[in-house]
Amino acid sequence: MTVSVEPTPVEPSGNGSAPANPSAHTPGSASAGASVGAGAHTSTHGEEVLRPHAENAFADELAALAAQDDRPRPTRWKLSPWAVATYLLGGTLPDGTVITPKYVGPRRLVEVAVTTLATDRALLLLGVPGTAKTWVSEHLAAAVSGDSTLLVQGTAGTPEEAIRYGWNYAQLLAHGPSRDALVPSPVMRAMAEGMTARVEELTRIPADVQDTLITILSEKTLPIPELGQEVQAVRGFNLIATANDRDRGVNDLSSALRRRFNTVVLPLPESVEAEVDIVSRRVDQLGRSLDLSAAPDGIDEIRRVVTVFRELRDGVTSDGRTKVKSPSGTLSTAEAISVVTNGLALAAHFGDGVLRAGDVAAGLLGAVVRDPAADRVIWQEYLEAVVRERDGWTDFYRACREVSV
Ligand SMILES: Nc1ncnc2c1ncn2[C@@H]1O[C@H](COP(=O)(O)OP(=O)(O)OP(=O)(O)O)[C@@H](O)[C@H]1O
Ligand SMILES: [Mg+2]
Repeated sequence: MTVSVEPTPVEPSGNGSAPANPSAHTPGSASAGASVGAGAHTSTHGEEVLRPHAENAFADELAALAAQDDRPRPTRWKLSPWAVATYLLGGTLPDGTVITPKYVGPRRLVEVAVTTLATDRALLLLGVPGTAKTWVSEHLAAAVSGDSTLLVQGTAGTPEEAIRYGWNYAQLLAHGPSRDALVPSPVMRAMAEGMTARVEELTRIPADVQDTLITILSEKTLPIPELGQEVQAVRGFNLIATANDRDRGVNDLSSALRRRFNTVVLPLPESVEAEVDIVSRRVDQLGRSLDLSAAPDGIDEIRRVVTVFRELRDGVTSDGRTKVKSPSGTLSTAEAISVVTNGLALAAHFGDGVLRAGDVAAGLLGAVVRDPAADRVIWQEYLEAVVRERDGWTDFYRACREVSV
C-alpha cells in the first residue's frame, strides 16, 4: 500500500510553548501515532496494555473471518460487509469457529451501518449515553480497516488542525512549509491510506470546526493551501462519527453536514434479558482483563442491578403497576456494567469471591444518587415502595439500606 502521508516525528524543541502536534491536544487521537508498530497486546515497551484495541483483542476472530470470507470485499476492506456484520453480531463459521457477539441489538441496524461505510456517505451513530456508540464505532473500524486508532476526540476545544493537519513548528521554522513539516490528522491519514477514520462526540465540536468535514466528505479532498497541494481520499476511506442525544442543541449539525451522513440510532436494550446478557458478557470480559478470572455466577445479582436501572430509567416498575421517579443521572447499560464490575472486585478482594447484594449496593447507590439531595429522596422512596416489597429481595433491600443511611 502506498502511504503518501507519514506521521512526522515530533522533534524535541527547546521552546515548549509551541504545540508541535496539534492532534496531541485531543485525547485519543494522540494514541493513533503511539500505537503504530506496537505488538498485539503489548505497548511499545513490551508491557501488557490495560485495554488492547479491538483489532488486537479480537485478532483471532478477525483472522478466522478473513480466512473463510469468500464474499466480495470493497476496495481496501479487510472483510466483506457480511463478515463485518458477523463480527459485530456474532455467529458460527463453517469450520466451527465461534465469533462472539460484540453488539447485542437489531441485526438490520448493524447491516445498515456496515453498508453505509461501503457507500460515499459517512456514518453517524446517534443515541442516548451508554448505548455502545463508541464501542460499535471501534469494532466497525477494526473489522473494516483492521485499525480503530485513527480517532479524533471531539470536545468544545477541538481545533480545525485536529481534523485537517497541523505543523511541526521546529521543522516549519527551520525549513519553511513542506510535506515534512506537516503533521497529518488521523482523518488525513485515513484519506491517504483508504482507511476508516473516527470522530467521537461530533456535536461537541464547535460548528465552524465541524464544517471542515464538509469538503472532506463531499469533495473527498483535503486542500493544503500552504503547499499548493491536496490530499485526495483514496478508495476505502470513510468516516464514523458518534454523537450523544443529550448534547442535542449544543452544537447541532448543520444541515449541509448532516446530509453527508447516514444516521443510525442505537436504541437502549429492548428487554431485561437483552440487557442482562450485555452486562454479563462485558463484565466477564472486563473481569478477565482485571484478573478477576474466577468470575462466579453472579447472574441473579446482575439481573437485580439491571432491573433497578431499568425501572428507575423508565419511571415505572417492570410489572407496569407502580410509577417511580427517575433520578438525574444517566442509568445506562454502561453504568450497570461498572456497578457489577466493581461489585465483582469487592467480592474477589474482600469477600469469598461470590457476587452478593452487599457487593453491588454501594456502587448502585453511587450510580443512582448523583444529586445528593433530590436523588437521595428518590432512591429512598424507591427502596421502600418497590424493593422492600419484592419477593426474594430481602438481602438486597437490607444491603441497600445499610449503605444508604
Ligand atoms: N447493545 C449493546 N451491545 C453490546 N454492548 C453494549 C450495548 N449497550 C451498551 N454496551 C456496553 O456499554 C459500554 C459503553 O458503551 P459506549 O461507551 O460505547 O457508549 P456510548 O454510547 O459511546 O456512550 P456515551 O454517549 O456516553 O459516549 C460498552 O462497554 C459496551 O460494551
Ligand atoms: Mg461514546
